[in-house]
Amino acid sequence: MTTDYLVIGSGIAGLTFSVKIAEAFPGRTVTIITKANEEESNTKYAQGGVAVVLNREKDSFQKHIQDTLNAGDGLCAVSVVEMVVKEGPKRLEELMAWGANFDFDTLGNLDLGKEGGHSEYRVAHHKDITGAEIERALLTRAHQLENISILPHHFAIDLITNHHVTGKKPKANACYGAYVLNQKTKTIFTLKAHNTVLASGGIGWVYGHTTNPVIATGDGIAMAYRAKAKISDMEFVQFHPTALFEADGESSFLISEAVRGFGAYLRNRRGERFMRNYDKRAELASRDIVSQSIDSELKKTGDTHVFLDGTHLDMAAFRKHFPNIYKKCKAHHINIKTDWIPVVPAAHYLCGGIEVDTDGKTSVPNLFACGECTRTGLHGANRLASNSLLEALVYAHNIFKYLRNDSCKSINLNIPDWDDEGTSTPKEHVLIQHNLRQLQALMRDYVGIVRSQSRLKKAIKHLDLIYNEVEYFYKASKISTPLCELRNMINVAHLIINQSLKRKENKGGYFNVDNVKK
Ligand code: FAD
Ligand code: SIN
Repeated sequence: MTTDYLVIGSGIAGLTFSVKIAEAFPGRTVTIITKANEEESNTKYAQGGVAVVLNREKDSFQKHIQDTLNAGDGLCAVSVVEMVVKEGPKRLEELMAWGANFDFDTLGNLDLGKEGGHSEYRVAHHKDITGAEIERALLTRAHQLENISILPHHFAIDLITNHHVTGKKPKANACYGAYVLNQKTKTIFTLKAHNTVLASGGIGWVYGHTTNPVIATGDGIAMAYRAKAKISDMEFVQFHPTALFEADGESSFLISEAVRGFGAYLRNRRGERFMRNYDKRAELASRDIVSQSIDSELKKTGDTHVFLDGTHLDMAAFRKHFPNIYKKCKAHHINIKTDWIPVVPAAHYLCGGIEVDTDGKTSVPNLFACGECTRTGLHGANRLASNSLLEALVYAHNIFKYLRNDSCKSINLNIPDWDDEGTSTPKEHVLIQHNLRQLQALMRDYVGIVRSQSRLKKAIKHLDLIYNEVEYFYKASKISTPLCELRNMINVAHLIINQSLKRKENKGGYFNVDNVKK
């Protein structure tokens, strides 16, 4: 199968690019492959909203730029921050023109929320289900465009690059599409594309205890890494301070930072508002500081969680702004009017990833990337809240702008089919589950909020054992999604640990006890 544009992922990044390029070139084909139902993505779960400067009386681009730079702790690319912040209003307007609904106040202005690290109210939102609304609107628009085909339950196994190509070999490395597993028929086919856009999202599942859905297994980053693309800033995993504490420690429901922006307090078991001991912005310090402070509080007390106290808030207004959070808490027998919500930090977002320039170009020709799988330079060592949806919109647009001038030549190369000769269907899948649990436990125990050289080295040793076992299994087995995902998560874990070991200075979301000057 051949397409003009192959897009891997149907979250905000992949859909935005697809809609734009399909609208501009009705005669060209856009194929989106996505490994679950078409709406399943980190995007769907986004709560707080999109950070954009809209109230120019109080707010300014300069303030948003400065807040982003402060959160990034000196490691942001200043020109990228300026470009993204200034593009924000246009990109949000476009999203609204495609039908995404945002909340307005009684004066008819967009209702803007506030989150950690923001000096002003600038987060545009749709109640506390902003991501689901964006995803709905983008999918609706994509389905209206006849030249977009969305293939749900199709899993990208690997990018096709020069080492797969036979016959007339191209001189330099480049990407020519992907090998794709149809998860329903269990067949693998070659999907050739002149341009490939990775929009495959985050990595939260590598930690197990995460706000992310199970699709967040870092596949795009691992595929790009195997294709020899540059990957960086992987040590900057962002832990969200307030995931709902659940005793089983599995995938966690998020209690949006906007709840703290709305006035909720963080308390320890003794009822103390401990954040005031760590930062003068208290609950609204940037996310890295709040998560590290909670971690330190938990280590001091031996507790498993802290609390978010919203009992003093106007409950009618709370329910209007956060209906989904209210409902979820109620289902857990937590009455926000009278009870504190138990919360704990959980893996949430990857600030690093596949290196791209401002056109969204990776270091591999014909391979582009946007959204959470990338490292653009916007976030530095710690992402400012609600800057991720913004980044995805802006970079999807930038790739579109770049490719608008591309003639989209067809690929005239002989690409062999996927070769699985000599492999067999494994009799049991328990090994995959077992290795996955081990991987997640080692990432939580040794590569969490607070790291040390000795724990990181232990992590590498354990990881190597898991890697060898899984590689052996992979070579002998017929491809399956869980096996490929596990292999990808091992690649991602390697990148996180190795890049952590190399960082000799604590910055933003990265804290290593051995970097603290004695
Ligand atoms: P995703 O939306 O994750 O989409 C990735 C897509 O790639 C999915 O469709 C997936 O199925 C597909 N895919 C992955 N691997 C493969 C493969 N091998 N083959 C085929 N398909 C594949 N950010 C904000 O700015 N504001 C917020 O309020 C906010 N709230 C958040 C709340 C939660 C609970 C979470 C988890 C994140 C939140 N974020 C927020 C972060 C933000 O939602 C994400 O960073 C952003 O949505 C990522 O978009 P994306 O398009 O890059 O990836
Ligand atoms: C939240 O609503 O707290 C998440 C915001 C984000 O991740 O940017």
